[in-house]
Amino acid sequence: MKITLTKTKKVKPDYGKLGFGKYMSDHMLVMDYADGAWGDAEIIPYGDFNIDPATQILHYGQGIFEGLKAYKTHDGKITLFRPRDNFIRMNNSANRLCMPALDIDKVLDALYELVKVEEDWIPTAEGTSLYIRPAMYCSNVFLGVKSGTKYRFFIAVCPVGAYYENGLAPTKIFIEDFYTRSSIGGTGEAKCIGNYAASLIGQEKAHKLGYDQALWLDAKDKKYIEEVGAMNIFFVIGDTVVTPALSGSILPGITRDSALKVLKKNGYKVEERKISVDELVAAQNSGELREMFGTGTAAVISPVGEFTYKDEKYTVGNGQMGKITGFLYDTITGIQKGKIEDTFGWVIKIK
Ligand code: PLP
Ligand code: COI
Repeated sequence: MKITLTKTKKVKPDYGKLGFGKYMSDHMLVMDYADGAWGDAEIIPYGDFNIDPATQILHYGQGIFEGLKAYKTHDGKITLFRPRDNFIRMNNSANRLCMPALDIDKVLDALYELVKVEEDWIPTAEGTSLYIRPAMYCSNVFLGVKSGTKYRFFIAVCPVGAYYENGLAPTKIFIEDFYTRSSIGGTGEAKCIGNYAASLIGQEKAHKLGYDQALWLDAKDKKYIEEVGAMNIFFVIGDTVVTPALSGSILPGITRDSALKVLKKNGYKVEERKISVDELVAAQNSGELREMFGTGTAAVISPVGEFTYKDEKYTVGNGQMGKITGFLYDTITGIQKGKIEDTFGWVIKIK
């Protein structure tokens, strides 16, 4: 694999004040598709792409991405969490968007090289990691609406801390009952860029009202809970952990799947099913709603302390992180950082 190292390394940011997605590393991985096949992956210095104004991605949004993380363990090893699952999902997204599938083994090998090249960009403090952003876009220069014949795949990485500004403090969620994010038969279960563009208006509305994120309802009835802008959602109702079933319009989160497996293995009662916003409000009013949290690569396990629906505000539990939320945060981050034994086969050690 061709690796061209930069001659001008960037000054590293303050790893104590990372936030999310602000500091890109020194190198990136690039691989192009043309004439029906992917070319070789290459690692090159991080930098701009030259994009013709008529490139299809800029007009019709044939673009997909993924998000995963690399960690440095306390004994200096470099690990990734369930990376193959991200590329399986990326190929599902590619299929939905009429884009070419990746050779997953080839891409994983190339990614491991990139992470090793960027080893000194992996932060080690609690709550930090190296965020990995694979993405693919149509690079044909053509203004007709049709799927392309040329694609660029790339991976950029950046050291990150907490996704939300307030770190692990419980988030406030606004239940959006007008706009919708996706519908059955649409692209909701694909990780495509248009889903995020469509969700911005809900997020802006939520922010203006003092909330961190919008919680989306199903597009047909605006009755059933789907997910949050950048995470799947869970509720602890009585002694049962409930999360919306994968309906086709929500992202099948890898952290969601990990949370379900950890909970089941530890004897918790878990249900994946339809849950209506009316049931949520009723559970809150009867005192049965004990905890609410989101799951995601960027968001990790994020407690929700407050939600609002139709101008009514509700505080979940005592507004603080609940017991099951804390258990999941500790267990999943413990496995990711090598502090807890990985009995699931999720952690891939690359060095
Ligand atoms: N839902 C949406 C819309 C997301 O963007 C994400 C983040 O990737 C998730 C859920 C959580 O998915 P995962 O746990 O695979 O990161
Ligand atoms: C992730 O958690 O990796 C995401 O992609 C969420 C968001 C930053 C878009």
